[in-house]
Amino acid sequence: MIKNDLFLRALKGETVDRPPVWMMRQAGRYLPEYMEIRKKYDFFTRCETPELASEITLQPIRRYGMDAAILFSDILVIPQAMGIEVQMKEGFGPWIPHPIQSEKDLNQIQMPDVKESLNYVMEAVKMTKEKLENKIPLIGFAGSPWTIFCYVIQGSGSKNFHKAKKICFTHPKLAHNLLQKITDVTISYLKEKIKAGVDAVQLFDSWGGLLSPDDYPVFSWSYLQQIIDSLQQEIPVIVFAKGCWYALDNMAKSGASALGVDWTISPQEARKRSGGQITLQGNFDPTRLYSPPSEIKELVHRMIRDFGKDRYIVNLGHGILPDIPVENAGAFIEAVKEYNAKHV
Ligand code: CP3
Repeated sequence: MIKNDLFLRALKGETVDRPPVWMMRQAGRYLPEYMEIRKKYDFFTRCETPELASEITLQPIRRYGMDAAILFSDILVIPQAMGIEVQMKEGFGPWIPHPIQSEKDLNQIQMPDVKESLNYVMEAVKMTKEKLENKIPLIGFAGSPWTIFCYVIQGSGSKNFHKAKKICFTHPKLAHNLLQKITDVTISYLKEKIKAGVDAVQLFDSWGGLLSPDDYPVFSWSYLQQIIDSLQQEIPVIVFAKGCWYALDNMAKSGASALGVDWTISPQEARKRSGGQITLQGNFDPTRLYSPPSEIKELVHRMIRDFGKDRYIVNLGHGILPDIPVENAGAFIEAVKEYNAKHV
């Protein structure tokens, strides 16, 4: 049904002529056409208005022709729906004025009917699907429970999220209670997104790597596994857990369709650790997009050679940075489209 199904075929592990490509955080930030919309509407208005969210989702596709679109939204709409106030502060990032600190705060959290409270996301999915006219697939996403937990405990971004980790090690019961609530809401949310029409789902565990290999399964992976278990019959699930190369072996057995990897592990090592069968996604260092376009292309070709063209989705190892020149992002995408067997 979808005309360019390279991305879905790579998720199934099928043989392809070239790997598909998209970029994490491709919608927004570095695009001049996004900056125009950004001048007029604040961040959550952009998320909550389906016309704007779908337009921003399509902007990078029109400019570069990636093989998949990712819905413009944010992982923090989940805590918002749970009654936790989240603001996006200019030049600062997410700000939670009343972070969760006690049992009492936990008891005030709502378990929302996501169909109602996040209806605007579902409308944005439907509108985006219409605008995409089945040309390429649409990715829906959510943060991992652990990554959401980090923000709602810490109250903002942080280098080490020490307040979130402190709660885990001083009040583990409270931590697990909250993680479970976030997990339950995330599952209903993603199920609604699937009903609304997304073709694949990505889970972002941006702060998984802050946990030790022993603590990761306890505070992050066990919740991600619940989400995978609930969705994998319905839709391909990609898990991107930044800094968690040490867990690739377990993740490969989880039922996820693909695993995202960051740039701190070589493609060969990532293949070895994940057992060689599962589709991998990544892992271009986002700051390498500062290199001249010709060098970017060479590096991308080398990366495809090292991962292998099959069971592979070309991507960055984390989100694109706001000051990447548009032509450098273009070189990244073009390099993949120009890929052919002669390059290897
Ligand atoms: O991939 C996409 O283009 C889809 C849209 C998307 C956004 N946020 C839009 C956004 C996605 C997938 C996210 C996920 C997200 N949000 C994550 C996980 C991925 C990652 O990068 O680690 C996290 C941790 C957040 C929380 C968040 N939202 C932060 C820390 C910030 C501020 C810093 C930043 O990333 O720019 C945001 C704001 C945000 N979310 C912007 C965009 C386009 C920038 C807002 C602006 O200044 O216009």
